[in-house]
Amino acid sequence: MKKITIAIDGYSSTGKSTIAKKLAKSLGYIYVDSGAMYRGVTYFAMQQGFIKDGILDKTSLVNALDQIDLQFKFVAGLPDAAMFLNGENIEAPIRTLAVSQQVSPVAAIPEVREKLVALQQAMGVQKGVVMDGRDIGTVVFPEAELKIYLTASADTRAYRRYKELIDKGDKVDFDAVLKNVQERDYIDSHRATSPLKKAEGAIEIDNSDMGLEEQFERILSHANALIERS
Ligand code: DC
Repeated sequence: MKKITIAIDGYSSTGKSTIAKKLAKSLGYIYVDSGAMYRGVTYFAMQQGFIKDGILDKTSLVNALDQIDLQFKFVAGLPDAAMFLNGENIEAPIRTLAVSQQVSPVAAIPEVREKLVALQQAMGVQKGVVMDGRDIGTVVFPEAELKIYLTASADTRAYRRYKELIDKGDKVDFDAVLKNVQERDYIDSHRATSPLKKAEGAIEIDNSDMGLEEQFERILSHANALIERS
């Protein structure tokens, strides 16, 4: 049976990665979290001192892009691949609110996008991939057989993110998380390069009041129909 490419896009905390991972597992496909790569570049910029008091030194970051080696690797005992930056497992620090607060301006830099899109396209060259992000159906894989656009209200998404961070032991304030979600929504959908938008032919699913199983079944049945046809 032929393999297809599945692109899942949407705002932050719409549950893209949960659905994408479940789908990849069920189809025996590779899952790629493209957001982790933008977070990885942001973490690198913070480590190098290119972001000070919330101000990003774009020129220094762009000049240092060839020093960044990002790889997904499996770690013993964990079900999902972790993000490695220059050999260091950065899976935990890239999920903090500190990185979330800096990532959107980094993701708006055209040179950063160019580097990461090329890496993402290389990962999907043999198909059999489920990739989630903001521009997967529009830029990375415009030819993807299945494109999903996930949405949910900002409040619902902020609450999901807040719970995730609290469960991990991060002491965060709900209003700060909501503000971050709204700011990232704005920047991600208004930036000049590859703004988040629904791809042509994408199936839109608003999951504000929808459980994981219902979404999963809907997407899986679309995927199975396309796989049978291909
Ligand atoms: O999916 P996430 O919240 O982990 O993504 C982190 C940030 O990276 C998000 O604010 C927007 C950016 N991003 C992007 O611009 N393009 C992608 N394909 C994935 C993420």
